[in-house]
Order: sequence, then C-alpha cells, then structure tokens
Amino acid sequence: MSQGAQTDSTDARSVGVTPTEGAVTPTSAPIASGVVTSTGINKGVIAVGGGKGGIGKTLLSANLGVFLAQRGHRVVLVDADLGGANLHTCLGVKPPNTTLSDFVSRKVDNLQEVVTPTSVPNLGLVSGALDVLGAANPKYTQKLRILREVSRLQVDVVIIDLGGGTGFNILDFFLIADHGVLTVVPEPTSIENAYRFIKAAYYRRLKTAELAWNLRPLVEEAMNERSNQGLKTPADLVSYVERRDPAGGARLREEIERFPLKLVVNQVRTPEEERLGVAISEACRKYFGIHMSHLGNIPFDDAVWQSVRKRRPVLLDSPDSRASRSIIQIAGALGLGG
Ligand SMILES: Nc1ncnc2c1ncn2[C@@H]1O[C@H](COP(=O)(O)OP(=O)(O)O)[C@@H](O)[C@H]1O
Ligand SMILES: [Mg+2]
Repeated sequence: MSQGAQTDSTDARSVGVTPTEGAVTPTSAPIASGVVTSTGINKGVIAVGGGKGGIGKTLLSANLGVFLAQRGHRVVLVDADLGGANLHTCLGVKPPNTTLSDFVSRKVDNLQEVVTPTSVPNLGLVSGALDVLGAANPKYTQKLRILREVSRLQVDVVIIDLGGGTGFNILDFFLIADHGVLTVVPEPTSIENAYRFIKAAYYRRLKTAELAWNLRPLVEEAMNERSNQGLKTPADLVSYVERRDPAGGARLREEIERFPLKLVVNQVRTPEEERLGVAISEACRKYFGIHMSHLGNIPFDDAVWQSVRKRRPVLLDSPDSRASRSIIQIAGALGLGG
C-alpha cells in the first residue's frame, strides 16, 4: 500500500484539507484495560507500530507474545503488517489457512475461529490482515468490527503487529490500544519517521477530540492565527484553545494526555544510543506536551538475526541473550512482567 495515499492528517490539516474518514471517538476508553483476567493480569491490547519497516516491530511483538504465553497468559498475536505479514515465519508456522479476511468477509462469524495455534502453548496467531487493512479505503465499519471483536477474544493479552506507516487504520488501532508501542532504531531516517508517526497520531487524536467536544472552530482559529499569536508547537495550540474556552481546552488537554504512546529503541549499540529514548521523549513533551514513556532499549544482538534464520523467536532460541533479557524487561515496564 502506498502510505502516502492515506497519510496523514497532519499536513493535510495545515493546508486546510481535512481527512474524510471518521475517526474512532476519543471518549472510547482503551479497549480492555481494567479487566482482571483468569491469569491475574489486566487484560490488555498492545499495538506495535513504527514509521517504517525493518526496525523490530515483529521482533518485539513475537517475543513479547512468547514471554507472556510462557508465563501462563493466554495471548493472541495479530499480524496486521501492511505488505509485510511475516509473524508466522518468525514463529516457525505455516501461513494460517483462515485469516482475518475470512472474518471481515463474514466467511466466519467469530474472530476466535481464525486464531491458529502455534508451537508455544497459550500463544495463538491471527494472520492475513494484509488485504483487509492494506486496502486504500477500508470500510470504517469493518475496522470498528475488528476492534470490537479483538476486545472480545477470550484471551488475556492481544498483541497487534501493525507494521510501518501512518495511515488512518494504523493510527486508529494504535490509539485505541491500551499500549501503543512505537519502535525506532538509532538512525536519522528512523528517528525522522518516528516523529512523523507521533505527529500524525497526535493530530489524529486532536481531530477526534475536537470533533467530540465541538472545538473545531476554535482549533481552526488557532491554526489560522498561528503566526500572529506566536503559536509554534501543537502544545501552544492547545494552550490557545484553553485560554479562550477553559473547559473545552481542559478536555482537549485531558484527551491528549491519555495518549497511550510508549517507545522502544531497538538495535542499540552505543551508550549515546542508549540515551536516545529519553531524548525523544523529552522532545515530545516540549513540542507536543505529551508524555511518552520510554519502555526500554533492545541491544543490537547477533542472537536476533540468527534466531530469525532459524525461524524461532529469540526468546526460545537464545533465552539468555541480551536481546531476550531486554524484551523481558520491556514486558515488565508495560506492567506485564508478573
Ligand atoms: N536487536 C536486533 N539485533 C540484531 N538484529 C536485529 C535486531 N532487531 C531487528 N534485527 C534484524 O532486523 C530484521 C527486521 O526486524 P523485524 O522485527 O522483522 O522488523 P519490522 O517488523 O519492524 O519490519 C530482523 O529479521 C533481524 O534480522
Ligand atoms: Mg514486521
């Protein structure tokens, strides 16, 4: 899919063009949080996204899934990577026969029916999101149906490998998850893409909030007055709205602060790169006024690519490797280590 086709509300807004597709309402709380499951953890949906391919989204999704399943939690991995669905390969299973497309086209009624078992007990896989989410204009109702069914799956944790890009579907899945995890590698192009992703997600969130709270005229006014009023950052924009409509502005701020954004820096090699996550979070706080927690780093580790060649998750192939240990720490930072 050409990401350019449906990207991105950010730049579209600044030239006065608004996206035509409706957004998931901001009042919808995270889909599953707060429900304690039979294995004793908060049921949660983790969506893993990123600006581009090859930065460790699948590595993180697959191995988080393996770790949680090993701890006795029932986990389903959903492969929603546009154009690059390869979770099954990382897990060493054949592409599943039933796919998410069968659910969307109503060949099967229940998403549970398209969950394929893997070699890891408690770990199931839903594949084939490719043609569903990759379509240039997938039906909004289909997306909602998937989201609803995902939250109803009889499991403890759902992990969605969203793939790269900033299309509306990716952003909506990301924003509605309990944890939206953004991966980045320490390369200028990846960092640039990460900021682009955050910006697009931010404006998607802002749009849903302004629609829900009727703040659109005021936000537009702020956009038009940007240079006159010296509004340099999106955070300034929210402050502008707050000054003119304190109650509405406060709601807007609250909505934006509920942003479920978390960061993982992958392929870290140097001490300087180890500090990148904090630097990106800090920049986000200053520019967007949002808190993005840095969950941790995954070191560059030969054990990772070696495990990929063997079609085995690194956590099974090399459980004591530095990469495996860092992924376990990340699960802990998500509150899922127990
Ligand atoms: N921490 C790492 N150390 C070594 N190699 C890595 C690491 N992370 C990713 N890789 C390599 O990069 C490839 C792409 O990673 P992957 O998780 O599939 O990226 P994405 O899902 O973002 O496209 C992997 O197959 C692996 O060879
Ligand atoms: Mg991938």
